[in-house]
Amino acid sequence: MSWMKKHERLERNSLLLLVCIIVTVLVGGIVEIIPLFRMETVIEPVKGVRPYTPLELAGYNIYVREGCYNCHSQQIRPLRDEVVRYGHYSLAAESMYDHPFQWGSKRTGPDLARVGGRYSDAWHRAHLVEPRDLVPESIMPSYSFLLATPLKTYDLNKHLKALATVGVPYNEEMIKNAEKDAVRQALGEARTDISGLEERYGGKVNARDFDGQPDMVSEMDALISYLQVLGTMVDFESAKKVEGGVQ
Ligand code: HEC
Repeated sequence: MSWMKKHERLERNSLLLLVCIIVTVLVGGIVEIIPLFRMETVIEPVKGVRPYTPLELAGYNIYVREGCYNCHSQQIRPLRDEVVRYGHYSLAAESMYDHPFQWGSKRTGPDLARVGGRYSDAWHRAHLVEPRDLVPESIMPSYSFLLATPLKTYDLNKHLKALATVGVPYNEEMIKNAEKDAVRQALGEARTDISGLEERYGGKVNARDFDGQPDMVSEMDALISYLQVLGTMVDFESAKKVEGGVQ
């Protein structure tokens, strides 16, 4: 058969074979990779997902700085045991504004993708100060210094601006008010006017004194505000009613 003859030529000529392999792999690669550059076609937008507030973003930065991702993942896989333990599996849209994403690859401690709202602020504070006070067998390090470290807020506008250049929808207003918004969120509704913050980031923003030190905006405030928002942006309860069960 003639096609067999043609193939024989290919098999006998290693250089020709190599060229053909490269062309084939290139075509396959292009077909798979090009669509990924168009993020909006890859990640389905999900209602409720918003960029972090400046205080939450500062908390995210501390999370990265302290290497929490070395022991904690933020990615619930769609497997029954994970969903039963941690809640609804993670959606791509939920980490679309994380640069870099915090999916992690190791679980020395539990997954944190949906830890928001699971514990009180006081619990987080006590746990971060000394994990063994709450979980005697814990091997998590103590982060008590966060309580005594004032949060650097003056450069938050630059962080927002940098993220805006890679596609996070922070607008001029958000960038301009970054420092004030961070302080307002840590002061809380009881002690300051948070209407501007709510206007910019939505009414579901947690604004309160997270670290139990009303006179100081500390790194602990920022980290707890970040932990408390994780996994809470999408309202799965109402999504369930609409779709008749998402799992
Ligand atoms: C050496 C590994 C290690 C590091 C680093 C680490 N953790 Fe943990 N973490 C653990 C372990 C183990 C547990 C489970 C025992 C416990 O609750 O203390 C845990 C539990 C937690 C919990 C409770 C989760 C739940 O659902 O019960 C939170 C929240 C948490 N860590 C946050 C953090 C944050 C924030 C950082 C970084 C500032 C951090 N961890 C760094 C090991 C680690």
